[in-house]
Amino acid sequence: MNHLALIQAMPKAELHVHIEGTFEPELMFEIAQRNHIQIPYQNIEEVRQAYNFHNLQSFLDIYYAGAKVLIHEQDFYDLAWAYFKKCHADHVVHTEIFFDPQTHTERGIAFETFFNGFQRACQDAKSEFGISSHLIMCFLRHLSEQEAFETLEQALPFKDQIIAVGLDSSEMGHPPEKFQRVFAAAAEAGFLLVAHAGEEGPPEYVWQALDLLKVNRIDHGVRSEEDSQLLARLAKEQMPLTVCPLSNLKLCVVDDMQQHNIQRLLQQGLCVMVNSDDPAYFGGYMNDNFIAIQNALNLSEAELKQLAVNSFNASFISAAEKKHWAETIAKLSV
Ligand code: ADE
Ligand code: ZN
Repeated sequence: MNHLALIQAMPKAELHVHIEGTFEPELMFEIAQRNHIQIPYQNIEEVRQAYNFHNLQSFLDIYYAGAKVLIHEQDFYDLAWAYFKKCHADHVVHTEIFFDPQTHTERGIAFETFFNGFQRACQDAKSEFGISSHLIMCFLRHLSEQEAFETLEQALPFKDQIIAVGLDSSEMGHPPEKFQRVFAAAAEAGFLLVAHAGEEGPPEYVWQALDLLKVNRIDHGVRSEEDSQLLARLAKEQMPLTVCPLSNLKLCVVDDMQQHNIQRLLQQGLCVMVNSDDPAYFGGYMNDNFIAIQNALNLSEAELKQLAVNSFNASFISAAEKKHWAETIAKLSV
């Protein structure tokens, strides 16, 4: 087996994917049409041309606009089901999916409408493909602490089906400390905690996510490399960083993939793994991300396998399941 075949063959977990970021233009057109909603594009080609981002905010503006065509439970089901088909194709056997309640509740969509759609797709993915999944609800950090508290309240009836809360959207100017109290309340209610930090924001935001929010994982975290003390801590605590290579390239966090630090972080003993973030917008799903770093960085067999093992170790599955997947990956040979 060569390296590309190994990438395909390895079972993998995805820990950083926004379900609204898996919205392919084809499905967006189909749902817009059936819901009689206008979108500012004539055709798929025009949509793809609009996906030319220069930073996080330029992407977010388009991403939130796209989500506006999602109205009915079936729309949310179709969105999630399309993503699970990609997981099946890429041999992603477990996924922990972000969703942004406020993107939908702000438009008058009831929590149960999108949640039931996602939940039903998760059940079908298990029965049809054997893919396990968890749902993670994110607070939009450009909105207020008060609005995050209201969202937490709305989620309480669904608490047993939501594994964690997260923090996403515009990072600069919205440090983790803004959400310290709502994260404490979420922990109290029994949610695990994750947060985007150190994507565009400075290492200070990663320190805050660790010390003030008390997260179980950091999403992105690639700018931690600028702070050697922080790196030492992340390695010592085996605090996972859910790294998203194609996202970092598309949003100009790195200038080219050869400069990406995922391999350096791995070689320094950090628990990093590969994720797709918003694959419909950034040029690819799990295996596309693996192939992009493999072509740029020429990872060894051992490094590729470590990335896959890390994806399970950093996930919220049981210790027995982690052991099972690590053993399965170890047995594969190139
Ligand atoms: N929401 C969707 N994708 C995101 C990202 N990469 N960073 C912050 N918020 C997001
Ligand atoms: Zn993200």
